[in-house]
Order: sequence, then C-alpha cells, then structure tokens
Amino acid sequence: MSPLQVNLAVDPNLDYDSTAYKVAYSRLNGVFITGEQEAYNNYLRLAEMLPQHRTSLLAAARVERRHQRGFQSCGRRMGIKADRGWAEDVFAELRDRFTAAADRGQLVPCLLIQALVVECLAIATYNAYLPVADEFSREVAEAVIQDEYQHLNFGQTWFQEQFETVKADIQAASQSILPIARTILTRMGQDAARLGIDLETLEEEFTIHYGEALEAIGFSFQEVSGMSADGAIAA
Ligand SMILES: [Fe+2]
Ligand SMILES: [Fe+2]
Repeated sequence: MSPLQVNLAVDPNLDYDSTAYKVAYSRLNGVFITGEQEAYNNYLRLAEMLPQHRTSLLAAARVERRHQRGFQSCGRRMGIKADRGWAEDVFAELRDRFTAAADRGQLVPCLLIQALVVECLAIATYNAYLPVADEFSREVAEAVIQDEYQHLNFGQTWFQEQFETVKADIQAASQSILPIARTILTRMGQDAARLGIDLETLEEEFTIHYGEALEAIGFSFQEVSGMSADGAIAA
C-alpha cells in the first residue's frame, strides 16, 4: 500500500487538489518555510554566543536551510505560493523575544527558544502533519523530523551538562516563552484543521516532546508538570 493510500484511509475527504486544501496548505507551508528561516537565523546567532560549539551550530544552521528548501519544493509541487506574510507575523513575538535576549547576551533563553521550543514545535507539527501529507511532502517531513531530533538533543545535552547553574534561568525563561509557543500553535489551528490536523493533537505532541526534553535535562516529573501548566491553554 502506498503512503497516499494510507492517507486516504485516514481521511477519505481530503482532496489535495481542492482550493480549500491549497489555501490552507499555502499558509501552513508558509509557516514551515518561515519557521525554518527562524531556526537558521537563530543558529547563526547562537554560533556567535557559544563559540566553543560554533561548528555544530553552524552545521545546524545549514541543515535548517536545507529543510527550508525541502518545504519550498513541497509548495512548488503542490502549485501553491507560500503565505510568508502571515507566517512572519505568527513568529514575530518569538523572534522579538529571541533577539531581545541575544542583544542582552542571555544565552539560556536563546538556547531554550531555539533548541527546545522551536525544535519541539517543528517535531510536533511535522509529526501531526505526516498522516495527512501528500506522498512527496511526507517524505520531506520524515527526513526533516530526524534532523530536528538531533538539534533537540544538542540543546538537551548542553542544558543537562550545566543543569544546576542554569536550572532557575530555564524555569524563568520557560514561563514566559511557553505561552508564546502555545499561541503559535493556536494560530496554526484553523489551517491545520483544514488539512485534517487536529489542534488538540498538535498541542499534545508539543507538550509531550517539550516535557520529555525537560525531563532529559534533569527536571523532575513534578517540576515538568508545573512548568507545562504555565503555558497551558485554559480548558
Ligand atoms: Fe528544521
Ligand atoms: Fe532544527
């Protein structure tokens, strides 16, 4: 059975050629492309802030550039123009937060934003997208996800190694950054739903990956629950 047949089994109503699908796709494709651009820019800045890891961080930036090109190919094959304007606005608050922290030389919030939050947003979104993706986009997204796990692992390892000295800073940064991540997911929700991606699934995926990353760094289960609740959307 081909992946496309699997997709159709998931939701027989998805019509990849319909205008409704293409409009929603152009917006989500815009978010994917812009998100990869943010990641690229962030790793370049992090390479300046963490010179001892410059080689790895510049390599990560190059990988993000490759991801961006992959998603641009997906859009071209689908015959759509990515809606970058809207996507720029979706990421604006997170970008401003990263830039402000970087300008003050605050490494913890910068690394948290890119290596944990943006990577977890990417992993959650692409994972939730896989079951409804067209065959070409699915192959691109699957390859990208593997790289994002590597990037997430870099951030986890760095935080884990200095856990005691950065623990309080991570908690403080997480408290202010997590609501921004939740807002990004919510803003994607309507278009994601048109592609067959349930917002609740997207939020759950993000919460699980972010929570697992915090536990890997050294936070207790209870601490992680408290930190995740900080950014939770009111039920
Ligand atoms: Fe990426
Ligand atoms: Fe990444």
